[in-house]
Parts: sequence; structure tokens; C-alpha cells
Amino acid sequence: MSQALNEARHYEEETELQIDETERPAFHLSPRIGWMNDPNGFSFYGGKYHLFYQYYPYSSHWGPMHWGHAVSDDMIRWTYLPAALAPDEPYDRDGCFSGSAVTMRDGKQLLMYTGAVSEKEFGGAFVQTQNLAVGDGLEYVKYKGNPVITAADLPKGGSPYDFRDPKMWREEDGSYGVVIACRNEGGYTQVVLFRSEDGLRWDFDTVLAENHDRIGRMWECPDFFRLDGKYVLLVSAMDMLPSGMEYHSGNNCVYFVGEYDRETGIFTEECDHAADYGIDFYAAQTTLTPDGRRVMIGWMQNPDTTSLRTLTHPVFGQMSIPRELSVRDGVLYQTPVRELSAYRTDPVVRENVRLDDADLSIHGISGRLVDLEVEIRAQDPVEGYREFRCRFACGERFYTEFCFRPKDSVISIDRKFSGQRRAIIRHREAGIRHENGRLCFRMILDRYSAEVFVNGGEKVMTVTLETPREAEGISFHVKGKAILNIKKYRLEI
Ligand code: FRU
Repeated sequence: MSQALNEARHYEEETELQIDETERPAFHLSPRIGWMNDPNGFSFYGGKYHLFYQYYPYSSHWGPMHWGHAVSDDMIRWTYLPAALAPDEPYDRDGCFSGSAVTMRDGKQLLMYTGAVSEKEFGGAFVQTQNLAVGDGLEYVKYKGNPVITAADLPKGGSPYDFRDPKMWREEDGSYGVVIACRNEGGYTQVVLFRSEDGLRWDFDTVLAENHDRIGRMWECPDFFRLDGKYVLLVSAMDMLPSGMEYHSGNNCVYFVGEYDRETGIFTEECDHAADYGIDFYAAQTTLTPDGRRVMIGWMQNPDTTSLRTLTHPVFGQMSIPRELSVRDGVLYQTPVRELSAYRTDPVVRENVRLDDADLSIHGISGRLVDLEVEIRAQDPVEGYREFRCRFACGERFYTEFCFRPKDSVISIDRKFSGQRRAIIRHREAGIRHENGRLCFRMILDRYSAEVFVNGGEKVMTVTLETPREAEGISFHVKGKAILNIKKYRLEI
């Protein structure tokens, strides 16, 4: 084991003891110590879910990237394992950037990640190459043939500085595919696909998608998979311009649904949308569960606000709840993994609550570890109602609010009063389909986040919160005449 990895492992083991567990999210994975960004190597291997992550143990700010490592039986309760990778080779000396994991024919686990080497003469820009490590679920050995893919393998003019985040998969015939984000000769971002028979030697196959600055400038963290008879391409787009009700987040995870012809290598996109309409969801990647579900997890953070935080905690960064995906009518639906339901306790149910320009608080409906389901409809579908609001994480000086305005077909989330003391983004709106004001949503609250899944997961809004944990109130507010069905569970993790 290299000295860098050894040191990181000692450091995390010693310092994690300083962390008060109740200061962490209860069921969203946070770094063992220090800084976390992207999920990496999300996979099922050796009977457990593995999640690696971009990790800098030595401070709660981004630094030379390691891979942290955790395992879980159900993607909800995670156990830390020792750091898996450290930047300790000439080709990754300034960082082991994002990547992925698959199981090889011989039963070993194969990781592919981007090695970053900073070049002083180019203002510190990182030269990026793709590298392998082979392991058993605990210890990983970097491949002696690294790097296995470099910019020289790209179509002519491909940039060595923006070439990262390999996401691998296995085909039914046992061969391997990988998608990687890059920048072409014209300066535009692309997703390229490479193929391999053995996972070690890789050949360029095709340019799967090109951007021409249409959706953001540079793409990162691509993923590509078949789902419900369609193909889905995920990317995390940087520097997006808002367009209508889409892409208000600057940096956000975006999905394309389309068709793909392996013979020609052509992916024909049919639509594109934000994968999340809240503020904090980036660098998502997916895995297949043993029972065939496609599950996505993202870094629950907007890269733009990492330096504007007010928290001084020794741990920074958290993952989203893992989300089961499906494609219906060209739209990517997301729902929290069903494993979460096993942690629901103390149900409080109220049905057919009629509200007429009224506010409602219900005994037993409060808390910060919450799974809340709400259905709203108008008392009279013709007359409708004007507005619905659900406030949560409420205390004397705090609340965060999910709002629906049926007439405008707009949902929104506002975290103005969630404890941040910086001029960060606080409000986000999205369009929503509904019939006569009928809307349902499920909200998952953890200590430092809220994820709202609207209309069965057709739209999701995710925000991080800094609200003090004592702010536990939940209330409902209606303008006009509406009927509510409410189910609330405490989550006991
Ligand atoms: C996305 C990203 C990736 C890169 C990693 C480095 O957040 O910039 O493109 O691999 O973070 O930590």
C-alpha cells in the first residue's frame, strides 16, 4: 500500500472519532471525515452495495482527490470502509477523479477513474487520463498498464484537459462499454463511448452526443443505460443558461431520453430535462440492483455554493437518497429506493381534510427525519383553489416551503429561512402537469436536506438546509378551497 493511502486511512480512522454522529445526515451518506463530492463506483459487489466518493479527508474543502468507500445492505444505512484510492502515481498524482465500477469475469471488481495531473505551465490545468484499479471490495491495486485511455485515443483534437469521469457497464455478451466526457477540437463538450473485450484494453467506438454549447459548456459525469425500452444519457452540465422553465441551476444533472443503435453507434435524443428542479443535485450516477432496478444517486450539492457555506463542520458534502428510475412518456421518473420504507414508523394519517383559506397543523406531524406523503385536490374542480403551501423545518426564525400554484402550473421550493447567512440561491420554480389542481408529492426530510418527489417522481426538487435541528414544525396552508390527504412517518434509521 502506498504511503499516501496508508496516511489517509490512519487519518480517517483517528479523526472520525471527533465527529458527533448526530451532526451528520442520518441516512444520506456523508464523508467519513473532510470533504465529499461525486458518487463513484456505485455498484453491487460481493453481496453488498458499494459506494465510493470523491474525498479529501484532510479538510472540509476540495483538495487532491481520494476515493472514500462505504458499503450497505440496503442503500440507506452505510458502513465506512477504509479509503480505496489515493493520488499516489505519476498519472494521478494530483487527484483520483470520478469513475465507476463493474464486476470482471474472474469475480474481481474493476474500477476505472480519471487520473489528474496539474500542469504548471498551463495555469494548473489538469491533464486527465483514464486508469484502472482491480480489487476485492476492500483493497484495490492500480493496474500496471495505466493509463488505459488517454486523449490520444480521442478523435483528432480531443482535449487532454477536459476528459473525465468514465462510467462503465457490462454488456450481455460479457464485453465492456464506457462513456466519458470530453471536449473536442472545436472546444465543444461531448460524450464518447469506448469498448473493450477484457476491461483492460479499450478502443474508441463512437461520439455518443455533442453539445455545441446548447446545454451548458462542459459536461461531466456521463452515464448511459437502457431503461423501459428507451436509452437514457445522463450528464452533469456546467454553466447552463436558463431556458424557459428548464436549467435554472447553473450546474445541474441533465438527462436525455432517446434511441440508440449499437450498429451505427448513433444515439438519437428525443428530449432533454433537468434531472432535478431543486438547487442541490449534481454528478449523479446509476447502478443496477440484483433485482433489476436502475438506481441513481447524486451529490446533493450545487458546486456553485460550496464556498459560500456557513457551516464550519469538519465534514462537508452528502449524497442524495438513492432513487429508482423509470421512463414513462419520455420522462424520467424517480422515487426513493423502496428500501427506505422499512424505516417508516409512527404513521399519522389524515384523510379528506377540507381547508378553505386556512392553515393547518396536525398533532404528530412534525420532525426532521420524516417521510411525508400529501395529495391535494380542489373541493370543486371547476372553481379550483389558488395556492397550496407546505412549510417544514419550521421554528421561531425558520421555515422552508414547498408551494404549488395550480393556475400557473408551477411548483416551487424556497429555503430563504433555512439558516444560511450567505447570498446563495434560495428559490427555485418548475412547471408541473396537473388536472384541476390535483397534485401529490412525497417529501423526504433528513437533518440537512429535503427532497420532494412530485406526481410520482415526474419532477424532483432537492435542497440542502442548514436549519437548526430543533426547527421541527410542519404545516399546510391553502388559499381557496382544497382537500388534503396526508400520511406522515417518522424515519427511524
Ligand atoms: C464533478 C467533478 C468531476 C471530477 C470530480 C473531481 O463534480 O468536477 O468532473 O471528476 O468532480 O473531484
